[in-house]
Amino acid sequence: MSNLSVNYLGLALKSPILAASSGLTAQLDRVAEFERAGVGAIVVKSLFEEQIVNEAEFLNSQSHDYPESADYLHHYLRQNSIDRYLKLIEDVKRTVSVPVIASINCFSTGEWTLFAKEIESAGADGLELNIYSLPLNVHKKSDDIEKEYFNVVSKVSKSIGIPVAVKIGSNFTNIPGFVSNLKANGAKGVVMFNRFYSPDIDIKKLRIFPADAFSHPDEYLKELRWMGIVSALVPGIDLSASTGIHNGTVVLKQILAGATTAQMCTALYKKGGDAISNAIADLNLFMDSQGFKNISDFKGRLNYSNIENPEKFERVQFMKSFGSK
Ligand SMILES: Cc1cc2nc3c(=O)[nH]c(=O)nc-3n(C[C@H](O)[C@H](O)[C@H](O)COP(=O)(O)O)c2cc1C
Repeated sequence: MSNLSVNYLGLALKSPILAASSGLTAQLDRVAEFERAGVGAIVVKSLFEEQIVNEAEFLNSQSHDYPESADYLHHYLRQNSIDRYLKLIEDVKRTVSVPVIASINCFSTGEWTLFAKEIESAGADGLELNIYSLPLNVHKKSDDIEKEYFNVVSKVSKSIGIPVAVKIGSNFTNIPGFVSNLKANGAKGVVMFNRFYSPDIDIKKLRIFPADAFSHPDEYLKELRWMGIVSALVPGIDLSASTGIHNGTVVLKQILAGATTAQMCTALYKKGGDAISNAIADLNLFMDSQGFKNISDFKGRLNYSNIENPEKFERVQFMKSFGSK
């Protein structure tokens, strides 16, 4: 048997496969199932900023004869969302013995430092910040938007003792530069990449509808390219692959590209804990056949700095590959 253990964000994990944040990781029977299947850590469903802000906005939109009662309700509802979340963290911690990573889904600096402290007190072993806002202001500078990310990360990581990972989307001009700045602002890890809900258009009914929330098994190549590049250019930060991790082969590809862990979401919805146990069996088979004893024996072996022709990661124009066809 190979040794599948890894160190992610300073946490000792028995395997590199994580259950990604989703509705499944808010269910105690499912997290127990994932632990039995060999998961390395659980990333709990996110506490969403909207859960807190929208309730407050709804209240503000109502007319109140007694403003102080609105204030009270506002405080009560907000605290209720947070308390429910803290209870969830405590329950998940009680259910599994693997590390439990809480998740906050936010788009502004807000009061996250306060919530982060409470999450730490509830027993979370780490915190994943999923920061995203869809920029709609044509006058706003990209630099200013990126600064907001660094601000949140810096404030939150300074205020708590548990490690912070940042889950990012892929829409940044300079991904290695952005990750390097996240690291400089206190992030111990980066999750690449979040997969966003996308609108699609129904041409028969002439309406917008949400595209599939689940990824397809071949949806991992963009993530693989950036894993290979970022792991080489930004050493000293743990990278976790997200999107399209449907089987052990893709987990192995991401580790070869430099990932420390790989997070499964769609695969868990489709196959449950079997997705994890099958991937672990594939990892063991691969390591036995290649003579690798530990994950560190092959982690990053095919990243941007370790291959003979790094331009294979750089090639983005069809001209170069298909120019003569
Ligand atoms: C139903 C569903 C719920 C999700 N909920 C969250 C969430 O609460 N927080 C979060 O950071 N990501 C959430 N995600 C995103 C996943 O964690 C993951 O990053 C994304 O689905 C890509 O991984 P996959 O290809 O394995 O599905 C959710 C995804 C799905 C499909």
